[in-house]
Amino acid sequence: MSVLKSIFGQDVDTTSSTYLGKPTSRVDGPAKVTGGAKYAAEFNVPNLLYGYIVSSGAARGTIRSINAAEVEQVSGVVKVFTHDNAPKTAYLDRSHRDQIAPDSGSPFRPLYQAELEYSFQPVALVVADSFEAARYAASLVKVEYDLKPHETDLRANLGKAHPPTDTRAGYVSAPKKPRGTPDEAYAAAAHKVEAEYSQPIEFHLPMESYASTAAYGEDGKLTIYQKTQGVQNCQEYVCSVFGLSSGDVQVISPYMGGGFGSGLRPTYDIYLSVLAATALKRSVRVSMTRQQMFSFSHRPEAIQHLKLAAREDGMLDSVTHTAIEETSQNEEYLETVVNWSGLMYNCPNVRLDHQLVNLDLASPADMRAPGAVTGLYAYECAVDELAYQAKMDPLAFREKNYAEKDQNADKIFSSKELREAYRQAAARFGWKDRPLEPRSMKKGSDLIGWGMASGSWEAMQGKAAAKLVLTADGKLLASSATSDIGTGTYTVMTMIAAEFSGVAIEDVTFQLGDSSMVYSPVEGGSWTVSSVGSAVKTVCGELRARLFKLAGKVDGAPLGDATIEDLTFANGAMHVTGNPVRNVTYTEALRAGKLDRLELDTTELPQLAKQATHALYSHSSVFAEVSVDEDLGTIHVNRVVSAIAGGRILNPKTARSQIMGAIVWGISMALEEEGMLDDHVGRFMNHNYAEYHIPVAADIHDIEVIFVPEHDEVVNPLGAKGLGEIGMVGVAAAVTNAVWHATGKRVRSLPVTLDKLL
Ligand code: MOS
Repeated sequence: MSVLKSIFGQDVDTTSSTYLGKPTSRVDGPAKVTGGAKYAAEFNVPNLLYGYIVSSGAARGTIRSINAAEVEQVSGVVKVFTHDNAPKTAYLDRSHRDQIAPDSGSPFRPLYQAELEYSFQPVALVVADSFEAARYAASLVKVEYDLKPHETDLRANLGKAHPPTDTRAGYVSAPKKPRGTPDEAYAAAAHKVEAEYSQPIEFHLPMESYASTAAYGEDGKLTIYQKTQGVQNCQEYVCSVFGLSSGDVQVISPYMGGGFGSGLRPTYDIYLSVLAATALKRSVRVSMTRQQMFSFSHRPEAIQHLKLAAREDGMLDSVTHTAIEETSQNEEYLETVVNWSGLMYNCPNVRLDHQLVNLDLASPADMRAPGAVTGLYAYECAVDELAYQAKMDPLAFREKNYAEKDQNADKIFSSKELREAYRQAAARFGWKDRPLEPRSMKKGSDLIGWGMASGSWEAMQGKAAAKLVLTADGKLLASSATSDIGTGTYTVMTMIAAEFSGVAIEDVTFQLGDSSMVYSPVEGGSWTVSSVGSAVKTVCGELRARLFKLAGKVDGAPLGDATIEDLTFANGAMHVTGNPVRNVTYTEALRAGKLDRLELDTTELPQLAKQATHALYSHSSVFAEVSVDEDLGTIHVNRVVSAIAGGRILNPKTARSQIMGAIVWGISMALEEEGMLDDHVGRFMNHNYAEYHIPVAADIHDIEVIFVPEHDEVVNPLGAKGLGEIGMVGVAAAVTNAVWHATGKRVRSLPVTLDKLL
């Protein structure tokens, strides 16, 4: 067996696969760097009109008047849409709920009513024959409001916290009953920690701003070029909201300049572009400004209360974790925040609770590792505090309390190589030399601190389909209506299709991002490889079976009486394993069947019976070093080492990028990001890249990513768990714990800024 030691720390078995497990550059890379890749606002359609969104200046109240008629006189302006004149869309809330919407509640409807729901919501759309004319005219729009009092301050409204009344399919709600007797165990314990952790609102902020180009065809059909993580979700939403038939609406989104969850649900630009296009019977483009990118969703602010206790010997004995998050007035946004605390480590006594406060803000939305990033930030910091109380090394404490099963669900893990992730990253980091006491390492005048944390994320699989078209020239076209939000979907799907079809990778093309393609759920939740990739694998198996049948018709029967199990499929041909001379090329097989193409598709369903008896999760360990200048309070994250147990790694190159990006974001969450509300006006003050801080290159230093081998035959047919979120989960806690180790100060509110250290 030839084993290649990859630079990523994983032994990659090169005999078992042709493409999978080999670092592969992005197949869409050339298109992206040459500008050939088209984004939603770049599709040119003839006679295009431009819509510019006017945003509300107030959070609550009623619109008394808008000078729309006056602005319509401005040169170039075609129409100014407001709640007064916009055609009414579907009446029922149900008709406005997309696939990702909460099961109850009223999704926001732009320009539907005079009543305001939140500051910076769209209140008018100025449509003109050029973008500049629309933007200028929009600056002349005057809106008068009858104001009402609003509430945007979570802390001031904690008294209104209530349990969620809604549930979201696929999302785990907190266990209703405690396990064991957490209060008694806490009272009796030798070591205890009680702490409140808080984190502010954070924003997704993809580089590409949202845009929708609704092309109005002569037949009245709409082709919508849309920035989205789910073309079919958008297509269904538009049909439902506007009462259009599905054959009349096509949504196309070949590329996405970042999503991170912000495009799981249809954004208001698509509602407005379709509204204007159908009303005017013209093609209309609507794009958001950078400020408006802060106006439709965010990671919710969270205040978390934790009580942890351990016995004298360091065994975790009691966990109580309560999270309170904000949601809008019209919907209950729910993410899985506290459940992680019941499954990360063994603990007999656990109480978990999640509550919501309705505020006059836009509905929050899933944002990279939604819920896990939040809950495990607080929990992994509190565990660090408890380990110190018990005078134990924080890694030793975690190893001692290692969970061999998910105690929330009472299920064994389908695979869990977290121990190995601890071992490899700790060794690489040099963790064994860490002194227990804080403030015990210095470099020059800087204090040095080492912190660590663990992470976990669900390894989900959803129903998905894939289609193949093999043509007589030996080229394979694979497709599914998924999207590539920058994660490398094009590349990994091309690799999977090549691997399991036996077509050489340079002859394989994978297409996505068109609602007319075969079914795919939204790209999110780290489940695209698992869901769509499994469908690609399965349909490739069906293709091989069809080709094998056709090969029987080839003159001279080169394969003889070989069964399909006796064959190797590679480089566009099948041959008897060990005897390459006895072969049939795919082109020959098609010709023998008098076919110029083979077309087939299949829908893959999760193997529920197999999965239901297991807990399916990916895991991570994160180790961070910070240096703190105590005079100035400045913090630098000198290095981060993270080891990921994410099942089989299909493309180590994009996988590594994915985790590096997530670590950068975790550093950003720990030290920089903070959506700042002015509660007097109910509005975000720092809605731009200048004042909403994110790291620049100079803020980021050494990052090392390790993938530990993890074999899993339960999670899905590929054994790959998905990597979109797991890389971010433990990072903020590791950095925060390192800051404590450097300074002895426990900063329990994010971001850890210098003012909190001085
Ligand atoms: Mo991700 S937050 O599921 O796009």
